[in-house]
Amino acid sequence: MERFRVAGGSSLRGSVRVNGAKNSALKLMAAALLAEGRTILHDVPAITDVDYMAELLRRLGADVERTGTVVTIDVPGEIGHAAPYELVRRLRASICVLGPLLARCGAADVALPGGDAIGSRGLDMHMAGLAKLGADIGVEHGFVVARAPGGLTGATILLDFPSVGATENILMAAVLAQGTTTIDNAAREPEIIDICTMLTEMGAHIDGVGTSTLRVEGADRMHPTEHTTVPDRIVTGTWGVAAVMTRGDITISNGRPEHLEIVLDTLTSAGAVVESSADGLRVAMSGRPRAVDVVTLPYPGFPTDLQPMIVALDAVSEGTAMITENVYEARFMFVNELARLGADVRIDGHHAIVRGRSALSGAPVVTTDIRAGAGLVLAGLVADGETLVSAVHHIDRGYPDLVGELCSLGADVVREPDPDGFDD
Ligand code: UD1
Repeated sequence: MERFRVAGGSSLRGSVRVNGAKNSALKLMAAALLAEGRTILHDVPAITDVDYMAELLRRLGADVERTGTVVTIDVPGEIGHAAPYELVRRLRASICVLGPLLARCGAADVALPGGDAIGSRGLDMHMAGLAKLGADIGVEHGFVVARAPGGLTGATILLDFPSVGATENILMAAVLAQGTTTIDNAAREPEIIDICTMLTEMGAHIDGVGTSTLRVEGADRMHPTEHTTVPDRIVTGTWGVAAVMTRGDITISNGRPEHLEIVLDTLTSAGAVVESSADGLRVAMSGRPRAVDVVTLPYPGFPTDLQPMIVALDAVSEGTAMITENVYEARFMFVNELARLGADVRIDGHHAIVRGRSALSGAPVVTTDIRAGAGLVLAGLVADGETLVSAVHHIDRGYPDLVGELCSLGADVVREPDPDGFDD
């Protein structure tokens, strides 16, 4: 087990490049299963979740190679259809092989991914959608078991909530179904647009990309492709918040400001200067930030994955803010750790009231998920003294080299063995 030793007080300055999005790359890797042959993905982040997904694809029969940020996936004519628990439990995103396996093999046995530290994450919409396409689907002995021996048939599916994962699974099944599938109240995240773009390159016919109604005309087969992952808007947003909290000046190349409109408006309200450029954006801040209210919602609303960073920002801002979490009911759990640094946060259901403090004070904290980890590191950067952030394997799941990048921007952060570490 390892931890980060974060010394407070540096102002982050310089340039950083954002990698391809974790939440897209993992799904693009699953989508590769839809076509026999070699698919090449560019700008895949070097994070542990990508390694786990590669391992899962190998288990299904694919040959997966990674060289830097390029992942090559060679898919044979026949693939397996069973995703075992020991791999699925490591990353929930592996549930996104369900749609491709069902479409390709007419069968899928995918272990239930289990809980997450940010709240219960149901699969009811994934399963109801695939059932509408004609699959016989249920949960048996801890596995989602789906069968469609005669193939899938297009249908109209109305999602109760614009679930990212359900939209992706249904899309990936629908591209090989017979006839037309309509997904109403579909998710509109940039990662959904990215997967639609890749599926179209593979031979899919999809209308309404980027809207909440997706119409898919089923095709007989998909062919392999070469595709570049959309830049990570959550990592981009993390750097933006870091610039504001540390009163720094960060140029974020490969960032896409158009994917972060509400986030950048929020940082501007906090007092930041935000400038877009052809290759990304710059976020600069002088003086103490002002408290900002945030309400998390599906895209284009404020992303829940940036909520912990905004709570950290408000913890050191001038004034009081209310953060409302609408996507994951347990996502405020990490504020108990933030409180160890002196943050004044009161939780009331899915609202958090944050009273800004003029200073936080360094302390040992433990992270329970990727984004809470990033929020705690940012808080450590502005706390007096040293903050020890434990269980950083969570952070490694989403940020390829957070310590290296922080240091290149002038932070004093080291990664070191954690003598008190425990696996959770
Ligand atoms: C994805 C992202 C995650 C992000 C989230 C919302 C990946 C790997 N993860 O997660 O980082 O925070 O989108 O932007 O891409 N739900 C159900 N039943 C379902 C499906 C979802 O109740 O069948 C609920 C979940 O419990 C959750 C909410 O809907 O409370 C949002 O889930 P969803 O949009 O599906 O998120 P994920 O795809 O799991």
